[in-house]
Amino acid sequence: MKKIAILGFGVVGSGVAEVLTQNKSIIEKKLAESIEIKYILDLRDFPDSPFADKVIHDFNIILDDPEISIVAEMMGGSHPAYDFSKACLLAGKNVVTSNKEVVSKFGTELLEIAKQNNVRYLFEASVGGGIPIIRPINNDLTANKITSIDGILNGTTNYILTQMNEHGTSFAEALKDAQSKGYAEADPTADIEGIDAARKICILSALSFGKCLCADAISRQGITQITADDFAIAKSLGYTIKLIGHSEIIKSKIYADVAPRFVPLSNPLAHISDVYNGILVGANMLDNVLFYGKGAGKLPTASAVTADIIDIAEKMGTAACPTISWSNAEGDDISSEEEYKTQRCIILCGRVEGAKYIGELNKSVIITDKISIKDCISLASEYNTEYTVYSIL
Ligand code: HSE
Repeated sequence: MKKIAILGFGVVGSGVAEVLTQNKSIIEKKLAESIEIKYILDLRDFPDSPFADKVIHDFNIILDDPEISIVAEMMGGSHPAYDFSKACLLAGKNVVTSNKEVVSKFGTELLEIAKQNNVRYLFEASVGGGIPIIRPINNDLTANKITSIDGILNGTTNYILTQMNEHGTSFAEALKDAQSKGYAEADPTADIEGIDAARKICILSALSFGKCLCADAISRQGITQITADDFAIAKSLGYTIKLIGHSEIIKSKIYADVAPRFVPLSNPLAHISDVYNGILVGANMLDNVLFYGKGAGKLPTASAVTADIIDIAEKMGTAACPTISWSNAEGDDISSEEEYKTQRCIILCGRVEGAKYIGELNKSVIITDKISIKDCISLASEYNTEYTVYSIL
């Protein structure tokens, strides 16, 4: 029997307890042993929960208990989640997490500590909710050179954009709905400003290219400025608008950004709706592969955390433990926004000569060749009218 501790009994933490209970016999059959939750660490008490007797408030009880070999961190936020994870790894305990903030900020260090202490730090649930993506990139695509990643990486914003586009729902109403369904972060700013997606693209980029960019330093734009007119223009040109995390190698340097993009209807990502995420990975042997599924929510995310727990339990004490490692990207590893060129759509107010005029909206549109954002802005500025720019996928 493996005894585990859960750190944080919120949406995902309680989901893990539920998955372990509901699928107990399936898991036991696979592992030929059981997984038992010994402790649940939270600031709160849960008197009505079937797990009420497991709840503790002192982290040191977990740290000092040699029976605990796996700790599942689902606290969210950097601290104390990072500090507790590090302490557990240093104490020789395996750690699994859904915490993309900690993995993107401290993953390099925590992976190294795990390696030095012969334990594992796994984070399948940190990107794509329930979609298997970390393990497939790390294990199944190893015969390929990954060339690009494009992903709808945030369920909350995809849900909001879908509601706005398909049902004309207001931004505020759609956000409230996403929060009530348990998709959004505690502070939804991280969702709607693209911060959550930036963390996730940095994790995928680190896995694929071996260097981790700082999520706070990449170019990032959220969804709050998107208007109904923008959706109408996109539609009239054969596109839709999606919040996309993008990463690729440009002249041996890593580039990543997050922005709402015009996505051609011929691209599979255009048809990924509601809370679903989709991640399109370009690989030199396989060409494109699409990972698709529920990107947020209690049980989908909990199923990915539980898969990591099972993976660790299954391989504990054997040599067959695939490891993950990357280093932090620095200076010359990082491509600037200037070096990134893509097609853009410039939306201009009023009728502009040389541009496609959309009379009912009194707006004009230019689709550019592949250009940098700087060149795009100087082109748009020449028209002396208000403009909006979208990159095209
Ligand atoms: N708030 C995140 C999302 C949760 O909406 O995608 C899953 O990481």
